[in-house]
Amino acid sequence: MLFFDLKVNDRIFLKEKKYITMSGIVEELDKLKKERKAVILAHVYQPPEIYDIADFVGDSLDLSRKAFQVEADIIVFCGVYFMAEIASILNPKKKVLIPDINADCPMADMITTEKLKEFKSQCKDPVVVAYVNTSAAVKAESDICCTSSNAVDVVKSIKGDGEIIFVPDRNLGNYIQKKLGRGMKIWNGFCPTHNNFILPEYILKARKEHPHAEILVHPECRPEVISLADHIMSTGNMCRYVKRSAIKEFIIGTESGILYKLEKENPNKNFYLASSLAICPNMKKITLAKVKDVLANMKNLISVPEAIRERACYPVLKMLKVTQNKTIFKK
Ligand code: 13P
Ligand code: SF4
Repeated sequence: MLFFDLKVNDRIFLKEKKYITMSGIVEELDKLKKERKAVILAHVYQPPEIYDIADFVGDSLDLSRKAFQVEADIIVFCGVYFMAEIASILNPKKKVLIPDINADCPMADMITTEKLKEFKSQCKDPVVVAYVNTSAAVKAESDICCTSSNAVDVVKSIKGDGEIIFVPDRNLGNYIQKKLGRGMKIWNGFCPTHNNFILPEYILKARKEHPHAEILVHPECRPEVISLADHIMSTGNMCRYVKRSAIKEFIIGTESGILYKLEKENPNKNFYLASSLAICPNMKKITLAKVKDVLANMKNLISVPEAIRERACYPVLKMLKVTQNKTIFKK
């Protein structure tokens, strides 16, 4: 007899860490994927049932690289809008679909082209570094992009005396600035999930409860959290790092969705979330039913006007070039 704990989206949780997907949908999706020559890319924060059907799961940089290389007619991008938009910017001939058109990143919405132009006008010879969590229009106004895994290398690669503008994440910007000792004008944006729901007191409590665990936190966390961590990493680098590490216990300071991948790939290690409140509601808008629906009906096609796409492509390609041979922890 089955004891159902909880039904969420398309999955039914049986007991802790176990679930079954609703009948038939995975098989239907497989068939559709073959018929349409589609691939499914998914961010690490996606729900378990999306992780399980994805062809590739990674962080923002992994996914940008994959979107650039992938051979398929259609990319179904399970993540937030700016991520699907990058896939479309890099693949103008491919169709990129997002299962929920309202899966936005609130941090990306904290900077607009108008605000960026005004910010630039206040600086001498500005060089704009845009975190990939920005719209295509903002990227089009920028000189180079970065992700959380290559931000330090990207800023390091900038030569000359121009003033560096960093948008939109103040926490990532401050982290880079401190790491490189290089002054930047930093926009006052932030990720609500990391900034508001991962607090220093949670890290201190977790450390007390798990004194042998290493603490890994994402650079979108506030500086007081970053200063308590053992390592600061993107989600993709966390996944690679724990696989290679001899350590058996980790406190994880990022969005809670990463836990499924970490536990699945490292069954003999223990992971504790620094905060179970760190949930990105937009990432969780993606469901199996929506993935199937967009693929069956070719809905939610990402479309970037060509004039913006061309200009936005340049800083993204520049970033990929700077970091093409750099993966801090290889898979
Ligand atoms: P990653 O670069 O680690 O994937 O981070 C993206 C993001 O949106 C984190 O909140
Ligand atoms: Fe945006 Fe934060 Fe969600 Fe990442 S976790 S997509 S930065 S809101």
